[in-house]
Amino acid sequence: MNSISAGPIAEVLLRLHREADAADAPLMQAVGNEAITFDEAMQRVVDAETKDLTGLYRGYAGNFLSVEPEFGRFLYMLARACKAKRIVEFGSSMGISAIYMAAALRDMGGGVLIGTELEPGKAERARANVAAAGLTDIVEFRVGDARETLKSGVGGGIDMVLLDGAFTLYHAVFTLLEPHLKPGAIVIGENALQQASGYIDYVRNPRNGYLSVPLPFSPGRGNELTVKTK
Ligand SMILES: C[S@@+](CC[C@H](N)C(=O)[O-])C[C@H]1O[C@@H](n2cnc3c(N)ncnc32)[C@H](O)[C@@H]1O
Repeated sequence: MNSISAGPIAEVLLRLHREADAADAPLMQAVGNEAITFDEAMQRVVDAETKDLTGLYRGYAGNFLSVEPEFGRFLYMLARACKAKRIVEFGSSMGISAIYMAAALRDMGGGVLIGTELEPGKAERARANVAAAGLTDIVEFRVGDARETLKSGVGGGIDMVLLDGAFTLYHAVFTLLEPHLKPGAIVIGENALQQASGYIDYVRNPRNGYLSVPLPFSPGRGNELTVKTK
């Protein structure tokens, strides 16, 4: 058995996914009501980030914007498969994806997950959610802009990264983490939009030392799996 399928962590995740669905329903409804494509909706976010990134995410302070359960299970499986000991997350929101990955670390005997979150209120809720899951000893949240909070390093080699923050900052945050990636490290980009930053072009160029493919989850939505090959 694993801790995301049954037991206290699984129960906390179930509760949080329910809370996320309820909190984000009006936002999803509003987006759904506008007759625009996914790409157009994403481009609006990119434009809004370019104009006022902090203001945009302040506006989402009450939204989870979290991974779906299936994607969470996938993150757990990846962490288990690469026997991760140190994981870094860009964009932790209320802590749902962090719990999936920290649960994998716990089930393998321990490790460190460094989460980053711009909004202080969200980071506070993420800490409470991680505590409810009994994973406080594994997770460290850094509050503020990840471009600043990750500058001091991450305390050792990184086995796995989840990029799930502001779309336009993926390349900048990845550049900060890159010197710490272990050979074979796994990087998952959630909505890693090609037009939003230079990230996708960079990791899809094998000369830079990565192999990278779009994920079959939610095809066309920019979910990308990257492995460091050297
Ligand atoms: C899509 S949500 C993350 C969802 C989370 N990974 C989960 O699945 O539960 C994106 C989050 O990134 C945060 N964010 C945006 N820009 C950031 C930055 N520069 N530094 C840290 N966090 C940032 C936002 O406040 C937001 O909570």
